[in-house]
Amino acid sequence: MGKLKGKYAIITGGGRGIGESIVHRFLDDGIAGIAVLEYDQNLTEEMVSRLGERGSKVVSIQCDVSNDKDVENAVAHAMEQFGTVDILVNNAGITRDSMFHKMTDDAWDAVINVNLKGAYYLCKHVVPIMRKNESGKIVNISSISAFGNVGQANYAASKAGLIGFSKTLAKEGGPKNINVNCVAPGYIETDMYRAVPEHIIEEHIKGTPLRRLGKPHEIASVVSFLSSDDASFLSGQCISVSGAATT
Ligand code: CAA
Repeated sequence: MGKLKGKYAIITGGGRGIGESIVHRFLDDGIAGIAVLEYDQNLTEEMVSRLGERGSKVVSIQCDVSNDKDVENAVAHAMEQFGTVDILVNNAGITRDSMFHKMTDDAWDAVINVNLKGAYYLCKHVVPIMRKNESGKIVNISSISAFGNVGQANYAASKAGLIGFSKTLAKEGGPKNINVNCVAPGYIETDMYRAVPEHIIEEHIKGTPLRRLGKPHEIASVVSFLSSDDASFLSGQCISVSGAATT
């Protein structure tokens, strides 16, 4: 393998779920270093040093992606450690599901601030580095909910926003050799998904032509591909990885 050999990455929300799988996949693919930005630091020191035993440098940085100063500090920390950023994966995301007519302002703001504004802050601090390098890969984790999902008006708006944001950065970053893409996962077995009521999980599986939930590693493999030079002419796209489910 080794398709990410010599590369340095920042990934948000990399301590569990899809993010954790992406970290493992990047290590399998020979990445030189990963800065894992986490709000609640699920990665303990022991886990970080165990990940580091796989031959790559791994650093865990506490960061609230919805806070510009935190993000600025985290990117500066990654730069001190690695000297550059080749790959940025905006994966951190939260849900506050409710029917729209019951949705609170807090639920709206929390989801937009983490899922959409968080990606904005990361790009704000990383894009200048990539422009200077005239090289970079950005992968933003959207969702099939971007196309509309009952109970997720806030989440859908944030994830649809990420698609427009990514397509715009792809057009602006193209002349500087920066590729920007989205991955839109379907229903994936993660802690986040476990909050969904049982009868709705059954509906989701019925609505998924492959008739099952996805696994985090099935998202990570696509993220790794998009982060590598195998995807060097692929930019401005949103790839649904959903077992053919649409919302
Ligand atoms: N379409 C239209 N109306 C619907 C509906 C549907 N699909 N499902 C439920 N309703 C209606 C119900 O009939 C009910 O109507 P009445 O009030 O007239 O009886 C009303 O909506 C409220 O239904 P509930 O009693 O179920 O409402 P609730 O407030 O207890 O729960 C909910 C609502 C929080 C949205 C809950 O249904 C839920 O959690 N749904 C799952 C949302 C979901 O798919 N989340 C995905 C999480 S995974 C993820 O986000 C990752 C990713 O990227 C995909």
